[in-house]
Amino acid sequence: AAEWVMAVEASALASEDAMRFTHKGRCIAVYNLSGEFYATSGICTHEHAFMSEGYIDGETVECPLHQGLFNIRTGAALSPPVTKNLKTFKTKIENGQVYVLVD
Ligand code: FES
Repeated sequence: AAEWVMAVEASALASEDAMRFTHKGRCIAVYNLSGEFYATSGICTHEHAFMSEGYIDGETVECPLHQGLFNIRTGAALSPPVTKNLKTFKTKIENGQVYVLVD
């Protein structure tokens, strides 16, 4: 069943930055895009790289390993070598904490 999981304090994640957390063995990346929070699966769909260490530019994140590009809001794979989308998760803010809906 899907559950809301506390990921990070909103104030601890700077704008245009990302962090990762692990829930039940699954790595998830949380992004702050100008005060709006998004979450995707934390590992690139190409090989093993942490998307939280990627370079954020507007709505996109560039994988730190081979520079594949994804849209952070939709998870869409935008440029080679990535071809498979990142899974995305809903987020909400409650009492200054960012929660992610993990299923
Ligand atoms: Fe991300 Fe290769 S591991 S593009």
